[in-house]
Amino acid sequence: MKINPENEFLKNLIKLQYGLKVQNTLKKISSKVIWARGWPQNKKSFWNAEAFMWNHKIDADPRKLITQELKPLHGKKNLDLGCGSYSYIPSTGFDISKKMLDFNDNCLQKVTGDLENKLPFANKSFDSVTALFVLNYVKNYPQLLSEISRVLKFQGIFVAALYSRNINSWQRQKEVNKLSKEKWKNNIAEAGFSVKLNKKQVLWLFKCVKST
Ligand SMILES: C[S@@+](CC[C@H](N)C(=O)[O-])C[C@H]1O[C@@H](n2cnc3c(N)ncnc32)[C@H](O)[C@@H]1O
Repeated sequence: MKINPENEFLKNLIKLQYGLKVQNTLKKISSKVIWARGWPQNKKSFWNAEAFMWNHKIDADPRKLITQELKPLHGKKNLDLGCGSYSYIPSTGFDISKKMLDFNDNCLQKVTGDLENKLPFANKSFDSVTALFVLNYVKNYPQLLSEISRVLKFQGIFVAALYSRNINSWQRQKEVNKLSKEKWKNNIAEAGFSVKLNKKQVLWLFKCVKST
């Protein structure tokens, strides 16, 4: 019988969620699955594989809190950076993972790209930008913050959320920076924002207004 590598990869991904030691098997099969090639080192493939379970990987309480915080942005033109499979408000969704975008049903438009590069959007084209559980995965965050300011209208809103505690060890393998909340606040302010920082539940919430 001919084995379907994609099905085999998915079957083993489920086993991985149950704590079975199938990483080497997954690595081998990943070379035969176009969207998983180089898993888990390759960041696009890593996030593609996360996409299948992503909606259950963030607890309900932070999800509820963020949904509440973003209510004032409803009805505005929002860009959700690193949106994954879950946008809290209708948005233009931007993510490195095509699979994440495929599962996201709150996107008005879906754009695949890497946040390490300049954003493929015109100056002053959004009322608001959100980056939820994402900034810790971007090495070139100074460029990203300046790009967020560029694509926002004057007095546009930028909302970012990060966990105040360590993220789980599986996702931590893709974390490329770990700054204090004060450092984030300063960096965002340096990019031309007035910043309000709140610590709520397990989150740091940065609510920012473009001021330049
Ligand atoms: C922790 S998840 C957060 C997803 C979503 N914002 C949420 O709250 O559920 C991080 C997301 O950022 C995306 N991502 C990570 N690095 C990226 C990069 N360099 N460029 C674009 N997206 C990236 C991942 O694909 C993933 O969907």
